Amino acid sequence: MNVGILYSRIRRDEKLLLSELRERDHEVTKIDVRKQRFNVSEPPAAFGDVDVVVDRCLATSRSVYATKFVDAYDVPVVNDPTTAEVCSDKVKNSLALEAAGVPTPNTDVAFTKDAAMESIEDFGYPCVLKPVVGSWGRLMAKIDSRSAAEAILEHKETLGHYEHKVFYVQEFVEKPGRDIRVLATDGQPVAAMVRSSDHWLTNAAKGAKTDPFELDDRALELVEKASEAVDGGLLGVDLMEVGVSQDDTQAASGDGPGAGTPEDYTVHEVNHTVEFKALDEVTDVDVPARVVDWLEAKVEAEAEVTA
Ligand SMILES: Nc1ncnc2c1ncn2[C@@H]1O[C@H](COP(=O)(O)OP(=O)(O)O)[C@@H](O)[C@H]1O
Ligand SMILES: [Mg+2]
Repeated sequence: MNVGILYSRIRRDEKLLLSELRERDHEVTKIDVRKQRFNVSEPPAAFGDVDVVVDRCLATSRSVYATKFVDAYDVPVVNDPTTAEVCSDKVKNSLALEAAGVPTPNTDVAFTKDAAMESIEDFGYPCVLKPVVGSWGRLMAKIDSRSAAEAILEHKETLGHYEHKVFYVQEFVEKPGRDIRVLATDGQPVAAMVRSSDHWLTNAAKGAKTDPFELDDRALELVEKASEAVDGGLLGVDLMEVGVSQDDTQAASGDGPGAGTPEDYTVHEVNHTVEFKALDEVTDVDVPARVVDWLEAKVEAEAEVTA
């Protein structure tokens, strides 16, 4: 097959994918999104021969619009534009999870400082304020007091650009010093890890410690549902354990099962241009191989439909 990789920067993740594709003698068309002009009727030449496009754009705006164009050119694209649109926006993400009956942290959205302040006071302290677009834990605020809330809201209202005029206020979840990242293809887990940190942000990009994690039946069920909620694809599903104390986890030295059994999980987000190098390193799973297996199956299924 010929796989188009839509990118702006080739990171380790893309390199892993590219070498797996080449090892299997697949053709690869690297498409630098910065050099493309997407016409509403005429597909750019780069898309002529590809069987599937894998969107690896870093910038949300590029990812959201470029996938819409690729889809309009009738070229299969992962992830599809619906998935990109829902996953790239925390408001849409929360609504989709809630609608699908997936437990997700309780969230308010408000458009003025005063209304946001009411949400914050209702949730109580601490609570969380997140940018609606963003990742790697950037610009996330844990709000511990009314005076901190006032300062952050004023800063956002005065200095923030468009997206920061939307106040996304969330209950603080007492997680056991870690969260769970699952890489899944159409709801089927490829690999999972826990990310542990003394900081409340446990993003790998923030330096959290990573360990492999084995999913129980409830987690498997939620990963599948969360994937369906955003229209499937190659996804990073983020979960937090609910009802496990920090002590339980630390007693098990943070290495996955064996820590206190959680009462349940809550899914705080589903990511669509997901990084997987950390999962590949920390687990026994050959992550790029499983991703390429999935791409091959997808292209084959597509060929059967059009045959
Ligand atoms: N409501 C919450 N309560 C406690 N911790 C949270 C909450 N939401 C997020 N976190 C922590 O912050 C990290 C980043 O949050 P997330 O919503 O995934 O944003 P990003 O898109 O920046 O990764 C999570 O991995 C988790 O450790
Ligand atoms: Mg996250």
